[in-house]
Amino acid sequence: MTTDSGRLMQIADNVRSSFVKAFECEPEFLLAAPGRVNLIGEHTDYNDGFVLPAAIDRHVVMAVRRRSDHHVRISAVDFDDLSAFDLDNIERVNHATWSNYERGVAWVLQDEGYAISGLDLAVSSDVPIGSGLSSSAAIELATAFAFQTAYQLELDGVKRALLCQRAENDFVGMRCGIMDQYIISLAEAERALLIDCRSLQYELARLPEGCSMIICDTRKKRGLVDSEYNTRREECERGAAILGVKALRDVSVETFEARAVELDEVTRKRCRHVVMEDQRVLDAVKALEDSDAAAFGKLMNASHVSLRDDYEVSCAELDAMVEAAWACEGVLGARMTGAGFGGCTVNLVCDGAVDAFLASVPAQYQVKTGLTPNVYVCRAVQGVGLLG
Ligand code: GLA
Repeated sequence: MTTDSGRLMQIADNVRSSFVKAFECEPEFLLAAPGRVNLIGEHTDYNDGFVLPAAIDRHVVMAVRRRSDHHVRISAVDFDDLSAFDLDNIERVNHATWSNYERGVAWVLQDEGYAISGLDLAVSSDVPIGSGLSSSAAIELATAFAFQTAYQLELDGVKRALLCQRAENDFVGMRCGIMDQYIISLAEAERALLIDCRSLQYELARLPEGCSMIICDTRKKRGLVDSEYNTRREECERGAAILGVKALRDVSVETFEARAVELDEVTRKRCRHVVMEDQRVLDAVKALEDSDAAAFGKLMNASHVSLRDDYEVSCAELDAMVEAAWACEGVLGARMTGAGFGGCTVNLVCDGAVDAFLASVPAQYQVKTGLTPNVYVCRAVQGVGLLG
């Protein structure tokens, strides 16, 4: 079996040689940006709430060389494709759509007054695409870090995350919250981050000892996600307006229960998820501090039920994967992770039960859905940084 650092080095070697082939010179430096998984706190970030993600040992790797003009050329090694644009005239494209993330970041950097010149880039990734592990946010952070390093931009980790979020919101056109860009920018190895999405401060959280983090990709591509995501955001904004607060973060569990009757049924369900989920994140961090992995796992399970029934962003495939995990001994908690409508589940499994999990959960899922899942036993790794 290839170790995670062995796999990363293989990708790096491949990216380096692809760079040389595409541009006929050596890159100046290589960098890596990880994907992410969210342990708990789903659809809370754009409500100014709390999330608890970690970066995972799956990476976007980029080889970089400065140019003296304003051209950016990108070799997408995995797609065997090349795209180029001019920094003085950056447009969104409908072909090579993968390059819109790099374009968006270059556009935002200049819009916010950062002085940059051109770059040659080669990119490859083992973050599964379209699976809810933030492969696109990893590209954004890799691009921002490439420009930052090449042109010595003064950017701290939070500002870097905010710029990338703006690239996604204003250039790509997805109204995502800050979670994905933040964790990829600032993650630390062996830790999750409790992020306060209002203050943009974080605290480190140690993952439970004696447990493994397993990600199961349903391989159900995430349909509907963009339109439904934006609809959920609007429903939350409506709830906050009726309750007279800036964001649902400002509604306590007690206030919600006292005032729920003022909301129509759909808004009530959406708000209930967000208010309770924020509380679950805080309770989950307390469980980690108390080394109570069982309590942490129960909160993960409750989060899934709430996303399924109140927020209505799960799907048959995610439910089937979670139910297979719940039925497996030694599984402390299992839930969908990310925006929903397909993608992945995250599972907290006692180390001694990992083999049993791998033997039973994918097989049961396959019987139920006819889909062959991908399963990753993951480590929490550090955020974007230089390689080598
Ligand atoms: C996507 C978005 C995040 C967050 C999650 C749901 O990953 O990019 O900002 O809202 O969905 O928690």
